[in-house]
Amino acid sequence: MPMPLQHGLKFDQARDSIARQDFVIGLRRYVLNDLAAAMRRRYDDQVLPAFERRNGRPFADQDEIHAAMVGNTTFQFYSAARYNAQEMSWRSVIPEVASHLGEIEAKAGALAEAPRGSLELDPSLELPENVTELDVHLMPGGYESKHELLAGSVYDNGLTVFSAGMFGPHIDDIGQSFAHYVLERFPDFKPKAIVDCGCTVGHNSVPWAQAYPEAEVHGIDVASASVRYAHARAESMDVAVHFHQMDATEMTFADESMDLIVSAQFLHELSIKDTRKYLAECHRVLRPGGMVITMELAPARYMAAYDCFYLDWDSYYNREPFYRAFRNADAAELGAGAGFAKDKYFEFVVPQYTRTDPAEFARQVGVPLSLEGYSGQIRDTISYFGFGLIK
Ligand SMILES: C[S@@+](CC[C@H](N)C(=O)[O-])C[C@H]1O[C@@H](n2cnc3c(N)ncnc32)[C@H](O)[C@@H]1O
Repeated sequence: MPMPLQHGLKFDQARDSIARQDFVIGLRRYVLNDLAAAMRRRYDDQVLPAFERRNGRPFADQDEIHAAMVGNTTFQFYSAARYNAQEMSWRSVIPEVASHLGEIEAKAGALAEAPRGSLELDPSLELPENVTELDVHLMPGGYESKHELLAGSVYDNGLTVFSAGMFGPHIDDIGQSFAHYVLERFPDFKPKAIVDCGCTVGHNSVPWAQAYPEAEVHGIDVASASVRYAHARAESMDVAVHFHQMDATEMTFADESMDLIVSAQFLHELSIKDTRKYLAECHRVLRPGGMVITMELAPARYMAAYDCFYLDWDSYYNREPFYRAFRNADAAELGAGAGFAKDKYFEFVVPQYTRTDPAEFARQVGVPLSLEGYSGQIRDTISYFGFGLIK
């Protein structure tokens, strides 16, 4: 069953919609676990030995594996099933969101009457092509919508299906895990101003405000539909976050005005050119001693070629064109290009805060980087890769 949302913008769904969502969750689990395992067996038993016989060597990299797998029927079946399951994740929630828009709007309107945080829109902002020209991860219409709350609610509800409960009822486990990682690893760091970039519906911005109640927390996104929804969502949870429609590659914050700049699953949706601009902006906006903390896909250099091929699927078939280039890039180099000293770059792996005993979480914050348990599968517990830059 999808884990129902628990904040104030939730609405009651018809039983057949919940059954449809449950089916999609089961289908995705089957594709990402069982079919993916079958594909791996086919690779080990047939595709790799055939390539070695023909070429006298194993595959050199993920691209050679992709070229060989494209013609393989197991890959084709896996890929078609995964593509359809991805589309179905969104389709399983859209009719319900569409029929409840009036209710969502009324709730958002009431919540805006006495806000703890704020909302700042910029109708003159030119939206970047990575948002206007792509239905990223096959989400119909992408992050922006003419109806102000539609795209936000589709994302919020669709993510509960897509994540199959892995991120908890507020789908905020990533934010919780990274905020508690910073609290644990840098106990003397007391940020007064924090910004979450590419925040979408603010689900992972809220945990920073909860972890650092003394700080002023901002969430920025270029899509107005996302930040409007994010604002109402955070208000409904009684958490003060200041949302802005803003381009993270051209922030309007003053120089040296932030202590901590965070993002989750954001950079892989930017081109490398925009990632460079974003990091240069982080360097400008951060105070000396301030930090960038980024949750992202693990770099290709730590993974076997087959695992890279497996993760590249999103780049080829899930409208995430920059995903692959981001994983192949060197974040320390990108940071250095933006002015961050290379010896102030660090990487880490974080367990799921909401599913890990606090003492065990604290222990794991101290252990060296290990990507064991990092996979594209749906499991009971997963771990997240992150990197940091200190100004
Ligand atoms: C994958 S979503 C991020 C998800 C979210 N941070 C999370 O924790 O799950 C990427 C978001 O970045 C936004 N975005 C893309 N380009 C941007 C830019 N240049 N500046 C600000 N936001 C941007 C998109 O509108 C979208 O909401």
